[in-house]
Amino acid sequence: MVEIAVEVNGRAETAEVDGRMLLSDFLRGVLGLTGTHVGCEHGYCGSCTVLVDGASARSCLMLAAQANGSSVRTVEGLADGEELSSIQQAFKDCHGLQCGFCTPGLLMTVTEIAAEVASTPSRHQIREQLAGNLCRCTGYHQIVDAVEQALDQAAGGGR
Ligand code: FES
Ligand code: FES
Repeated sequence: MVEIAVEVNGRAETAEVDGRMLLSDFLRGVLGLTGTHVGCEHGYCGSCTVLVDGASARSCLMLAAQANGSSVRTVEGLADGEELSSIQQAFKDCHGLQCGFCTPGLLMTVTEIAAEVASTPSRHQIREQLAGNLCRCTGYHQIVDAVEQALDQAAGGGR
């Protein structure tokens, strides 16, 4: 067992965990943050994506102990109370989801991209940037619409 201290969505968390516990299991099972979804558990689907110190990470491929001392952001940390982040709002506006299983991971990936974007990428570039997040429902068209809207705002100074 190892003692870890992690900041999750701005809140300090400490816990004693099995050294082999995955970050996804820590977030979901220990902290109850079930917005982070687990699909393939092999690093392929991207549904478990979270931000660790601002960089996207597959929480199914990372140990909780590896996050010790880090700041982790999950989908639960995007909205400000009842107010959706601009990226969440864009997914809602553009109907960028159907079953929603892939959505938390996509939102975290796009949050990382939006933090660095200087100008709106082309739709082809957006598809390339989302290549690590699989969606079985939408055909991606409306997801790309949503990301285009969100990155347009981010490039213009929005969040
Ligand atoms: S559950 Fe982590 S990449 Fe699929
Ligand atoms: S909305 Fe169902 S997997 Fe993407």
